[in-house]
Amino acid sequence: MNKICKSFPLEIGGVQQVLFDVTFNITAGEFVAIMGPSGSGKSTCMNIIGALDTPTSGVYELYGKNITNMTNDELAMVRNEYIGFVFQNFNLLPKRSVLDNVMLPLMYRGMSPNDRVIRSREMLHRVGLENFETYLPPQLSGGMKQRVAIARALAGNPKLILADEPTGALDSTMGNEILKFFKQLNHDMGITIVMITHEFEIARYANRLIHIYDGRINYDGKIPASEDVLNKKTKARK
Ligand SMILES: Nc1ncnc2c1ncn2[C@@H]1O[C@H](COP(=O)(O)OP(=O)(O)OP(=O)(O)O)[C@@H](O)[C@H]1O
Ligand SMILES: [Mg+2]
Repeated sequence: MNKICKSFPLEIGGVQQVLFDVTFNITAGEFVAIMGPSGSGKSTCMNIIGALDTPTSGVYELYGKNITNMTNDELAMVRNEYIGFVFQNFNLLPKRSVLDNVMLPLMYRGMSPNDRVIRSREMLHRVGLENFETYLPPQLSGGMKQRVAIARALAGNPKLILADEPTGALDSTMGNEILKFFKQLNHDMGITIVMITHEFEIARYANRLIHIYDGRINYDGKIPASEDVLNKKTKARK
């Protein structure tokens, strides 16, 4: 990601610039946390990393493919091939079974229905929900819902998992369980993880922290001993 800028058109005319010359590289196998105040541009940045959106200027390459000028169809193919998404609010279909929810994205991969079932059952087993495949999402706890969402993300065999506040809707016990699971996926399967969070305690599960402030990178490096470092920098910039 090199000198990425992102602007959105404003209703009253003109544009609002949200990202300013954002440059970083993420190497395969990293576990990166992105922090920053509300409105600083974290989700905008993640949407670009995840090929959900393209930058206004700058260059972004994902697994050697320059996605900067791709069409929506091309972006969808890249996402489908490389990326699993996990969201704060799980984004499960409430009226479809747990198994259906995990299977659904596999439809776009040209897998036979039988293989989709086998693959999805494997993934539910991985997240410890093999006995819940016929349940509906509203019948599960928050932590279980998030594990279904992770099984769905894993089903496509992603190289990269992008998680926007994955524990934001969970209590700390369930949140920790999800974070340990991410850690395990990163460590044992080598899946690259990029996770947005508001909390330093959560960021500490990662190996690298990128702090965004007002659309610019304020800190990029190892997890610091305390988050005071981040505050000092933002004060210095004001
Ligand atoms: N699609 C869009 N159209 C117009 N403006 C947008 C769009 N997406 C984001 N913005 C603006 O960009 C800025 C940054 O938004 P973004 O969602 O990236 O922040 P964030 O750091 O993820 O905040 P939060 O912690 O609250 O989720 C905000 O001012 C927001 O209003
Ligand atoms: Mg956000």
